[in-house]
Amino acid sequence: MRVVLVVAIAENGIIGREGGLPWRLSTDLKRFKAETMGKPVIMGRKTFDSIGKPLPGRANIVITRDQDWRAGGVERAGSLDEALAIAQERLERPDGEACVIGGGEIYALAFERADRLSVTHVLAEIDGDTRFPPIDRERWRIVAQNDYPAGEKDSHATRHIVYERRC
Ligand SMILES: NC(=O)c1ccc[n+]([C@@H]2O[C@H](COP(=O)([O-])OP(=O)(O)OC[C@H]3O[C@@H](n4cnc5c(N)ncnc54)[C@H](OP(=O)(O)O)[C@@H]3O)[C@@H](O)[C@H]2O)c1
Repeated sequence: MRVVLVVAIAENGIIGREGGLPWRLSTDLKRFKAETMGKPVIMGRKTFDSIGKPLPGRANIVITRDQDWRAGGVERAGSLDEALAIAQERLERPDGEACVIGGGEIYALAFERADRLSVTHVLAEIDGDTRFPPIDRERWRIVAQNDYPAGEKDSHATRHIVYERRC
């Protein structure tokens, strides 16, 4: 099973502020939905809280240390390894991939396990409190790139880049 980290990052590395997203990117949410649909999505408990409900059409796996934590339509995992094992069982295709969708703590845990990074670069410096690890171009090569001008419902223009780990 391949592991992809799906993330939106400002030019200064920021991915979140006060438990939420510091931008409004409707175009990217549509792109995110298309990319993750049908795949297991793995997230931290705080990110799940900020979304507030399971993402439809995807197996939702939430990582928490709280053994009693429960939410409808979601599977609980006590570690990244456990989350990946559950994702493996939920794959629709044996050669499928699991999407790690944040937030900061879970990206940091999963970074070394990732085969691919699907990054929406938000083309601005933005204030915030949660970051993504630096992407070292000696370890990650670009395999696809697309520019999206800011639409009516977008606060910023974005550049979507897919990075694959160099072996
Ligand atoms: N820009 C983006 O693409 C993007 C994507 C997703 C989220 N975000 C943003 O990121 C922020 C949230 O990120 P965050 O770093 O604060 O929280 P997070 O990574 O979403 O969740 C952190 C929680 O995960 C659990 N956890 C962490 N490490 C664990 C481990 N080793 N074993 C078991 N459980 C573990 C803990 O849950 P318990 O406390 O329940 O034990 C911890 O409180 C928000 O601002 C959100 O909007 C941005």
